[in-house]
Amino acid sequence: MFSQNQETHQTGYELDEQNIPHHIAIIMDGNGRWAQARHLPRVAGHQQGMETVKKVTIAASDLGVKVLSLYAFSTENWKRPTKEVKFLMDLPIRFFNKFVPDLVKHNVRVTVMGDISKLPDKTQAAVQDAIADTAECTGMVLNFALNYGGRDEIVRATRELAQKVATGELAAEDITEDAVAAHMMTAPLSPDDDPELLIRTSGEERLSNFMLWQIAYSEFVFMNEHWPDFDGESLKKAISIFQHRHRRFGGLK
Ligand code: FPP
Repeated sequence: MFSQNQETHQTGYELDEQNIPHHIAIIMDGNGRWAQARHLPRVAGHQQGMETVKKVTIAASDLGVKVLSLYAFSTENWKRPTKEVKFLMDLPIRFFNKFVPDLVKHNVRVTVMGDISKLPDKTQAAVQDAIADTAECTGMVLNFALNYGGRDEIVRATRELAQKVATGELAAEDITEDAVAAHMMTAPLSPDDDPELLIRTSGEERLSNFMLWQIAYSEFVFMNEHWPDFDGESLKKAISIFQHRHRRFGGLK
């Protein structure tokens, strides 16, 4: 794994258009520290982070990315102060209210993974409306992880498979990798369920329970920028780093 510090610093990245990752997943980190550095409340960082989501969505769509998965709220984020959780629950409402027309203009379809039944009713409604309003779009899929956890996803898939075995719908021997993948929340994104590139911002180098099944062979790129400072150029830089990796999938080159 490489952090940004080990990569070259340059601008104007020349990308191989034939090797743009189909699926990019991003752990959007550093909103709080971005705000603290400016003597602002933490939520100001989330607000600015929402603007970054818009910029990066359009940049990814323009680059020909097929799926962009964004970690917006984890199953662990409920532990944050009530005021911050409330702000984070209101963000999708504000984001979709403001941005759905632009998403449609860019032919971007919204999907969500995670247990959204636990979100406030208004947030659920905004999410469902955005999904419905963009349902006909055929371009990039913008996949928000909301109340999502990788372990929770694996537990749910295991439970579903066990139920099928218990009712005789499935034989235990038929629990293959494909069968498990078909029970993951990313199954509707097939054949692009697994991200080729996973980016985390803010210099932290951990997965924080994100897409644990799907990242088996993802390339990890850790960037120093806090999420509110990330932009289309940062995305190109991450893709450029990805394009210089040698992916072997356990085999030889
Ligand atoms: C991590 O930064 C960020 C989050 C937990 C929230 C991510 C949400 C957004 C980027 C807003 C956009 C969301 C939508 C739905 C449009 P942190 O708060 O952990 O930062 P810190 O590590 O510096 O404290």
